Amino acid sequence: MSGVGRKGILLAGGTGSRLHPLTAVVNKQLLPVYDKPMVYYPLSTLMLAGIRDILVITTPDGEPRFDSLLGDGSRWGIRIRYAVQPAPEGIAQALLIAEEFLDGGSCALVLGDNLFYGNSLGEKLQRAASRRSGATVFGYRVERPQDYGVLQFDPEGHVEDIIEKPASPPSDYAVTGLYFYDSKAVGLARTLVPSERGELEITDLNRLYLERGELEVDLLGRGFAWLDAGTPETLLAASDFVRTLELRQGLKASCPEEIALRSGFIDRVALERLAAELGDSGYGHYLSRVAREPPWEIRIEPPGASPR
Ligand code: TTP
Repeated sequence: MSGVGRKGILLAGGTGSRLHPLTAVVNKQLLPVYDKPMVYYPLSTLMLAGIRDILVITTPDGEPRFDSLLGDGSRWGIRIRYAVQPAPEGIAQALLIAEEFLDGGSCALVLGDNLFYGNSLGEKLQRAASRRSGATVFGYRVERPQDYGVLQFDPEGHVEDIIEKPASPPSDYAVTGLYFYDSKAVGLARTLVPSERGELEITDLNRLYLERGELEVDLLGRGFAWLDAGTPETLLAASDFVRTLELRQGLKASCPEEIALRSGFIDRVALERLAAELGDSGYGHYLSRVAREPPWEIRIEPPGASPR
């Protein structure tokens, strides 16, 4: 089993106030992270989980821009629809906005400024996507846990609480911006009340799952990278990270067109067409190269292929 049937929500609204004036006229998630728009990274994460039906939630100003960048997704063998969040009233509001789109089904929600990278990440995500009930979140050790929702562990190492931006963090483990929910999420989100900062907090939703004994917390080890790109410093760090990897390997990180081919969402002919559209650019040449790789290099892994 895999993410087939599970839908994706990509939350790309927000004010991006920490990046002003960069975000004065451009949505944060359209800014470049090295060689591609930021939104390509979370979109790649959903695609790696095997998810092909995606709702992009963005600001009223942002929607036409995302539409001209990504369209209906068919070029990449996926389906993209759009919805607007009129004001940034919290991450958990995404579930309420997505209610009709989800139509009673399960979902994965990813934040538009989050980048995930690591060996066998796709397998890990597909395992989370294949869980039939409950929620799955990921914990990751960070230097500044106080900026995030933080996991609190009991002496046996079981998660006993999640605390949003605590002044004294109970651990170094932050909850990342990627959440898998079963069909109960919308109903539970409806019971949330805005926090002191006026937002529907995703941490409150995750705590509801925790209280019900239905929250799976999967710790991502140090071999994974989880970055967000919400400040000038972290935006540059994310670009540096991607640049270093790509220059060394000659492979792109989080390239949705390549993931579409390797996942069997599109074929080589379609990828060549996408490459031609990009003209004489490094990105276009890369896609063209991938389209001509020998079959043993392509390693097409349809979502749900059993881990080797
Ligand atoms: P944040 O970085 O917390 O908020 P922001 O993007 O508005 O930036 P700033 O704090 O600098 O003002 O948001 C994390 C991600 O979630 C980001 O991708 C934007 C998205 N988001 C929404 O789309 N709607 C919301 O209501 C919130 C709170 C965040």
